[in-house]
This record gives sequence, structure tokens and C-alpha cells, in this order.
Amino acid sequence: MKIRKAIFPVGGLGTRFLPATKALPKEMLPVVDKPLIQYAVEEAAEAGIEEYIFVTGRNKSAIEDHFDHSTELETLLHIKSKSEALLAVQEMMKPPGSISYVRQQEPAGLGHAVWCARNIVANEPVSILLADDLILGKPALKEMCEAWKGGNMVATMKVDPEKTASYGIITPGKTFGNLVEVHGLVEKPKPKDAPSAIAIVGRYIIQPSVFTTLSTQSKGAGGEIQLTDALSEEIGKAPFFGYHFSGKRFDCGSKLGFVQANIAFALQRDDLKRPLQNWIKNQF
Ligand code: G1P
Repeated sequence: MKIRKAIFPVGGLGTRFLPATKALPKEMLPVVDKPLIQYAVEEAAEAGIEEYIFVTGRNKSAIEDHFDHSTELETLLHIKSKSEALLAVQEMMKPPGSISYVRQQEPAGLGHAVWCARNIVANEPVSILLADDLILGKPALKEMCEAWKGGNMVATMKVDPEKTASYGIITPGKTFGNLVEVHGLVEKPKPKDAPSAIAIVGRYIIQPSVFTTLSTQSKGAGGEIQLTDALSEEIGKAPFFGYHFSGKRFDCGSKLGFVQANIAFALQRDDLKRPLQNWIKNQF
């Protein structure tokens, strides 16, 4: 079975990036010249996703506008023969009807956001991408979809054992190449309570039964409805694996990670690599 749909939870307030995110959705913050959410959508497309479901909130209309035509802009770029710019705004368009938006009426946590997409997803396994987790290199969701044979899957990476309280953490079982059996999951444990230092990164493939669990899920870490808690109830019901993806992950939900991502992605660009390297060399 193929994973056809992806959920993008984009309802969060972005309080860590104020004042930048007062009127601008945090998912629209650019890394070099592309908003975070566009990287996530492109990664989903590379994994073969055909339907994109955005779980939005108030003040997020810039995301809808970004994925729609801007007739004025396109006409102007055409008249001025700015063909490269025109291609950039046209190439990113998805086929009509392949993007849906559902509004999360309150910021009640990732689990709640995912649950808001239940009627659009209906009864099939679905992927979830968190735009804050930006991955450089091989697209992680594609790797996961290729390795997925059913059940649930989360992207995983080793983190500093002192930082477990920032992540969902798994209890690992046997490993098979890039795959690791998941025997348990806990959201944001203190280092002394953490079952390992293997963290969940924001790429998931979940079974539709998770929506049923989420509908009665009580609040967890941070007083929010946590996806991790609902996923922990799937253990034993269906195969559950972590996937150690090959790319490098940047935490663009933090200022440091965001700045690092900008530098790392700029260094991948032919037009920016040389001048940026020279500038860095002259600074330090
Ligand atoms: C969310 C998840 C957490 C995961 C993290 C990855 O947390 O709840 O399990 O490890 O994303 O970025 P958040 O960063 O939204 O607090």
C-alpha cells in the first residue's frame, strides 16, 4: 500500500520567533529564499504524496496564499521577462484540488492538530511532516516510505542525552539496518527518566486507528494533547519502527537551528557558496 496523503500541522503560534511571527506564520520564515513549509511540501512530493492537508489556525492565511497563484505577480514577471523568478513561483504549484485546509480552532497540541485532519484522511495510513524539522540531504519521508511495510513509523535520531526533555523519546528494540523496533514512546522525559537518547524527529507514518485513540486522548506533557502518547498505545497492535534517516536535521523551531540551517542551505547553493565562504573566512 502506498502513502498518498500528508498532514502538515501549521497552527502553532511561533512564540519563540517573536516579533518576527507576530503577523507572519512561523512556517513562512525563509531559509535562504524559500519558506520552511515549502521545503516540507517538496519533501512530501518527493515521497510520492498526492494530497496535502494543512492544519492551520488564525493568522495563517499567508500559507494558503503562498500555495495559490498570484496573478498580478506572474503577469508582471512575464512582462518584465523575469523568467527564472516566474518559473520559481509557477513550478511550486500543486494540481488543483490536491491541497486542503482544516482549521485547528485552539492550539491544544500536536495530537489535537493531527486529529483535526481525521475526516480528510479517512481510513488510510497517512504521513505527517513538521516543517520546523528541516532536513538537508536525502529526503527523509521518501526513505521512510520506501522502508515502510505497514504499521507505524517515526523518523529517529540520536540526541544529546541531556536534551531528552525537548523530544519524544523511544524505547528501542532490535535494529535492522536503518530500522529500529519501537517498544515504547514517551514525550519530553527528563534525562533521568528517559528510556534512551533516541528522539523522534518530525516525520511520521501513522495508522488511521491513531485518530480513534486521539479522540479520547487526555492531556500529556505541557498540558497538551500529544501525538507521542497516542502512538504509544499502538505498540503491540501493529508493527512499529523508528527510521534512522540519512539527512542532517536542523531544528528551525529554535533560533540557533534556524540560523545554522540558513548557513548550511546557503552553502549548498552555487550562487552563494563562494561569497559566503569568503565572508566567513574574513570574519574570524
Ligand atoms: C514535537 C513532538 C516530539 C518530537 C519533536 C521533533 O515536539 O511532540 O515528540 O520529538 O516535535 O521536532 P515539539 O518540538 O513540537 O515540541
